[in-house]
Amino acid sequence: MLNHLKKIEISNKKIRDNYQQHFSPEEKKIYKNLIKEFSDLSRAEHGNDQYMRAFYSASLNLLKTDPTIFSVLYRVLKKRDINHKHLANLFFRTIQFEKLFPTKDKDYPKKFINPKLWEKEIKLIIETKKNDIENVLIEKDTTTTIYQRYAGIKIILSSLLNEKSLNVADFGCGGNYGLPGIVSGMKFKKIIDNSDDSQLTKLLREKINIKHGLAVDKENPYLPASKKWRYTCSFYPNELGMLKHVIKMEQKLKKVKKIKFLQSDILELPKKKLFYKKHYYDTICISTVCYQMPEDQKKIITIARHMLKHDGILILQDFAENDKKDSDKLNFNISWFSKPFSYRTFVASEKTSWKIKEILKWNNGRCLEVQPGKDFKLLKAYLDK
Ligand SMILES: C[S@@+](CC[C@H](N)C(=O)[O-])C[C@H]1O[C@@H](n2cnc3c(N)ncnc32)[C@H](O)[C@@H]1O
Repeated sequence: MLNHLKKIEISNKKIRDNYQQHFSPEEKKIYKNLIKEFSDLSRAEHGNDQYMRAFYSASLNLLKTDPTIFSVLYRVLKKRDINHKHLANLFFRTIQFEKLFPTKDKDYPKKFINPKLWEKEIKLIIETKKNDIENVLIEKDTTTTIYQRYAGIKIILSSLLNEKSLNVADFGCGGNYGLPGIVSGMKFKKIIDNSDDSQLTKLLREKINIKHGLAVDKENPYLPASKKWRYTCSFYPNELGMLKHVIKMEQKLKKVKKIKFLQSDILELPKKKLFYKKHYYDTICISTVCYQMPEDQKKIITIARHMLKHDGILILQDFAENDKKDSDKLNFNISWFSKPFSYRTFVASEKTSWKIKEILKWNNGRCLEVQPGKDFKLLKAYLDK
């Protein structure tokens, strides 16, 4: 089947123009899903980033007219377990990485406001670096790390666990900003708070006392290559000016010694006896990670339950909603951008019988506006007691 795609790729213009006609049923299905994903992304706001919209319009057009980009994405989907959303997201990061690092294009992003320019550039990159691009798409995950996302986690910590000195773990910590930032009292940006009496803003200002912190990620965030990839993932093109502030913040946070970093796959934790402590943590948070491993959510919850104290709380945060058929699960298959307030903060604990409860809803993954989620009353019960 892959040979068949290769033939289409190199065949004459007439065939290439209408290349979808020659698809197998499976290729047709994947093509349809990718077109839907890229077309959603070409219409999404991306925090008002016109470069991103132009990028996705260009990619969509290339998908429709040029078999090369489809065959690259198709091969990736055959070689790794990744959903279309994550892949489309990763595709932009892979191209942005090329522009920022190997090419070091001084005109990036300024020049790329126009889909036509993007089209030429994406084509050129794919043609000249097809193997590199494919390898990145096969091996990498997005490691976008945003301190502001830990606002949701801090709100839960302040409300449910106040006054105690806490043991906290952060699974999939990315650049490891969250716990070091909270421990050192680093401020969050002001949020538009749609709760009564700005309760959530007040919680955000509380001081949290962390006794022991563990941050886990399969990537070591302090290696130069991980940093480059993280910077590529963490910024929309129009946010790249913030990079110097983020580098400064990282230098500050690296000095916070209370949070221990462990390089490990979350699923491998049961093998790490020293770290797989039974009923040790008050809270485990997992922010913007599970969407990358949706099939493993139950395994992750089992690991977290082993490590949490009996009254401990698991905080999950993601572009997700409760699964309609299974209340122990989240559904990640919702449109990140076209459906507002789809970035959400959930909790699960013995008190909820490990059912996942939706506490907060954020306007997007930049977390500058918050609304009570459908199970907000759980948090309110603590606040009002
Ligand atoms: C999108 S980043 C989220 C970073 C941070 N938690 C945040 O919300 O800003 C996802 C992180 O999860 C990590 N990750 C994904 N799967 C993992 C796994 N199986 N074990 C450990 N880390 C994983 C990735 O390496 C990446 O750093």
